Amino acid sequence: MAQENIIAALDIGTTKITALVGEMDDAGGIYVIGHGTAPSEGLRRGIVIDMERTVKSIRKAIEDAQMVSGTEIDGVTVGIAGEHIRSINSHGVVAVNRSDNEITSADVNRAIDAARTVAIPVDREIIHVIPQQYSVDEQGGIKDPVGMTGVRLEVEAHIVTASVTSARNIYRALERCHLEVNHMVLEALAQSSSLLTEHDMENGVVVVDLGGDITNIAVFYEGAIRHTAVVSLGGKNVTNDIAIGLRTPVASAENLKIQSGAAMSLVVDPEEMISVPTADGSQGKEVSRNVLSSIIEPRMEEILSLVQREIKRANVGDLLAGGMVLSGGGSLLTGTRDLAEQIFDMPVRLGRGDRVEHTPEEIADSRYATAHGLLIYGFNHDPVGEKSSMKVKGMLKRFENWITRKL
Ligand SMILES: Nc1ncnc2c1ncn2[C@@H]1O[C@H](COP(=O)(O)OP(=O)(O)OP(=O)(O)O)[C@@H](O)[C@H]1O
Ligand SMILES: [Mg+2]
Repeated sequence: MAQENIIAALDIGTTKITALVGEMDDAGGIYVIGHGTAPSEGLRRGIVIDMERTVKSIRKAIEDAQMVSGTEIDGVTVGIAGEHIRSINSHGVVAVNRSDNEITSADVNRAIDAARTVAIPVDREIIHVIPQQYSVDEQGGIKDPVGMTGVRLEVEAHIVTASVTSARNIYRALERCHLEVNHMVLEALAQSSSLLTEHDMENGVVVVDLGGDITNIAVFYEGAIRHTAVVSLGGKNVTNDIAIGLRTPVASAENLKIQSGAAMSLVVDPEEMISVPTADGSQGKEVSRNVLSSIIEPRMEEILSLVQREIKRANVGDLLAGGMVLSGGGSLLTGTRDLAEQIFDMPVRLGRGDRVEHTPEEIADSRYATAHGLLIYGFNHDPVGEKSSMKVKGMLKRFENWITRKL
């Protein structure tokens, strides 16, 4: 297969950094042919606070993905998220150029450019300008105006901005790893391509990504992203509560949460006992699973209630016929879906990165939805053959991968 069909994606999360190498076949199917994950140590709430450690983690994830795929990565589609992300709605108007008044894609691009000229503070940079709908001579609600006739074309666009410092630190970290940025993509937008169907986006859906330091919220309806928000709490807060509540080291608290934790104490057997290690490594005490869950539950309730407050603030509650999709590592906690259904009183489902069918089982869960989404975004926005970000090391290695995939 030609090397132009291969691209790489990088998710710089607050707990882990994941690199994926994907290959697209002639039928448009995406195969993940290499992946690497390294613990993320230089980030806080989505922002690089320790460049050296961030660079080290990125290098490790990239090296592993290169080794598994037998490719050399020199460019990535990278995600961006965090408290510094803002989104605003803007409006652009242009006169249609052609004398016969037929609207061309050049008119559409000019309208989008006009929407982009909204005043943005100097410390912010535009990450995305996402057209929501067009109007032609006052007739609104148009999805694609190309080929229609009119004299005045208007666009309503959703503009996503990031703090210049945060975006630059990502560029700088990647530069230090000798990686080009093919696209910088809002994580929530990337996730939509791995978690949502077109039907979901039309019906109206809210994606809640329960990550390590932060919880990202993104609202989609009428086919486009309409609203984004961030709650500055995540799975790490839950782990810290357990560490404090049960007087156990953070690493043990993390294990207890993953193995025995639950977001609702109702769903666990109160008789079941678990062993809690102590800081000095001595034989730990026994507590019931119920006690563990009763530490987790109020924090999960707090996180989800703050999400609910953001949804209310966005005034989109009536537009979410498709309900809620939970994503991120926090969604894997037992009982999280049930708790969310109770709080939001809407259908809630757990997202998986289902849209990339050919991916190793160990990275097929919602922790990797962002990385998979970035890969899909990269393929959609970097048409095959236009730009290659990879160099294939050897045909033999590629052949080996191909064989492994067929097994
Ligand atoms: N099986 C599990 N059960 C409960 N919690 C889990 C499980 N697996 C992961 N987590 C939690 O999910 C969180 C990490 O989620 P994720 O991997 O989506 O974060 P991230 O992408 O690194 O961070 P962010 O998106 O905030 O930048 C951690 O707090 C971790 O404890
Ligand atoms: Mg994440």
